[in-house]
Amino acid sequence: MNKTSISAKAKKATLFDENTEFKPSKEFSKNAHIKSMAQYKRMHKESIDQPDKFWAREANELTWQKKWDNVLEWKAPDAKWFKGAKLNICENCVDRHVEAGRGNKAAIIWEGEPGDKRVITYRQLLRDVSRFANALIAEGVKPKDRVLIYMPMTPEASIAMLACARIGAVHSVVFGGFSAESIKDRLEDSEAVAVITCDGGWRRGGTVELKANVDAALKGNKTVKTVIVQKRIGNDVTMKKGRDKWWEDVIADAPAVHKPKGFNSEHPLFILYTSGSTGKPKGILHTTGGYMVGTYTTAKYIFDLKEDDVYWCTADVGWITGHSYITYGPLLNGVTQIMYEGAPNYPEWNRFWSIIEEYGVSIFYTAPTAIRAFIKAGDEHVDKHDLSSLRLLGTVGEPINPAAWLWYYEKIGGGKCPIVDTWWQTETGAVMITPLPGCTPIKPGTATLPFFGVDAAILDEDSNVCKPNVPGKLVIRKPWPSMLRNIYGDKKRYKDTYWGDYKGMYTAGDGARMDKKGNIYIVGRLDDVLNVSGHRLGTAEVESSLVAHKAVAEAAVVAKPHEVKGEAIVCFVTLKSNVKPTDKLKIELRNHVGKIIGAIAKPDAIHFAPALPKTRSGKIMRRLLKELVKTGQVTGNVSTLEDSKVITDLQKSIKE
Ligand code: WTA
Repeated sequence: MNKTSISAKAKKATLFDENTEFKPSKEFSKNAHIKSMAQYKRMHKESIDQPDKFWAREANELTWQKKWDNVLEWKAPDAKWFKGAKLNICENCVDRHVEAGRGNKAAIIWEGEPGDKRVITYRQLLRDVSRFANALIAEGVKPKDRVLIYMPMTPEASIAMLACARIGAVHSVVFGGFSAESIKDRLEDSEAVAVITCDGGWRRGGTVELKANVDAALKGNKTVKTVIVQKRIGNDVTMKKGRDKWWEDVIADAPAVHKPKGFNSEHPLFILYTSGSTGKPKGILHTTGGYMVGTYTTAKYIFDLKEDDVYWCTADVGWITGHSYITYGPLLNGVTQIMYEGAPNYPEWNRFWSIIEEYGVSIFYTAPTAIRAFIKAGDEHVDKHDLSSLRLLGTVGEPINPAAWLWYYEKIGGGKCPIVDTWWQTETGAVMITPLPGCTPIKPGTATLPFFGVDAAILDEDSNVCKPNVPGKLVIRKPWPSMLRNIYGDKKRYKDTYWGDYKGMYTAGDGARMDKKGNIYIVGRLDDVLNVSGHRLGTAEVESSLVAHKAVAEAAVVAKPHEVKGEAIVCFVTLKSNVKPTDKLKIELRNHVGKIIGAIAKPDAIHFAPALPKTRSGKIMRRLLKELVKTGQVTGNVSTLEDSKVITDLQKSIKE
């Protein structure tokens, strides 16, 4: 594709002409796993009509200590994939490749924020994981025990996850940007027996006190017996005798050989907490066999992984993307991957591009919010670097606006790399809607078509399939291997949240529309979930942290569109009658939310309002608040409002 044709197309696409399509080059298609739309359609049809045949073929590319009796047993909403099988997912990520002769291949090429570098081959990874698995066993960790991991992006984060999986323990990774309070809640909900952390982490030249947060979270905790601490930044930390041990010490005497035991396919693999529409995050439970096959297959076809690729996903292991497309998917496929510890703009805005150039990254997977931040920072940071090693780009986490898509395509991809806009969720475990890079005609702004085995539809309230371009609820009509199995300890919430809207179907919580060709456009969340810089947060979580402050009587939180972050957090706060509304208090409340949830949840704006808009039955009318923050006024129906003066006061409050 030459430059002129791209620019002409680019112009058209910014006008939202949905007929502007970007197709992969013949060369790319020829070498891709999936080479043509005919092949995609044939395989997709097979995956829907004969899922057992399709998934058995994929699963057979992996190592099973005992094969399954049934590919799928489905009694909505309970799925059992590969029932009767025994496997070890860590063996598949690591041992399998050493046995296949990839022992000296780089598994992880790691760069720390200060610039320190490490290369870990598959053979070394096997030794590191085995040692740590033996250390966990020596600490008394047993199969099905929960282990909380609170780490920065060091290779040890993945090693800790893999070691848990290897011994059948259930990891629960908590993003390093979350607060002590958040760790505490997750420890309590999961009743974890061990915590794995670091003394601290680097972030934008500063440090994050991880161990100190763990200490605060452990006050009053009765279940945690062991805390293992990796030395990363060398800060002073308190080590509690008998409970706290250095990573370096526990592995010192641990044998470097560990035989991976086979676990049942439905053995729990991990819990990952995510936001929903109540104040309490949901512990999404994933199990082993189906998740392994799902992440392996999606990574292989969507990233078109080949033996000599250098793959880089910029997510953090604290999110589902870091689980499925850093720790599991790429290692299951035996690729070389880059792992970077720090911020994209440290020390300068060219850090990512310098890493791509230095290591010859060929596949790059990041978030639209990062792309928008790079656009803002200026092209000069990109222009300094040779990015010609790239052959494929990806995005995840939120809809990508066509302008950002085109910048990414031209400026980063040089007009030659397909972009896979991948839609999925913590709950789905693996990508669900996505282009396949060697065949799908791509349009900026759409995640395009369902992946193999995904039966996606857009339904209206009466369960009818919506007509083309009419928005409705996105559902998945059939089970898929990497699907969630439960909300940890709360089957009722699992059933109600995901399976209650339409009989036997999974409701994603997203609104979407489908064009005439079947391309799916994600419109955004239908529930009270915010998407701030690709991070998922519940409005209810932010609200409950605000009302926990002694000055606050009531709070309502809504999203406001934001140029870089996608969405910004706007709070309307009613203070207790004796409290003065000051700017100092706004700052205090902002920091308070940061302390309760984590820095990512700090509100962008706080407005003090004498009252919140409510219906006569006392329900907060968020619709009005959303309109108010978007447009500065309220034009919609306010007839159900209990007191219409509230609106005038609110309009005043957002101007202050
Ligand atoms: C949103 C992240 C549009 C969506 C993997 C979903 C997207 C939520 C996309 C899940 C995309 C994710 N286009 N929206 N390509 N990918 N989303 O659980 O609203 O952190 O429901 O998983 O992010 O967020 P989660």
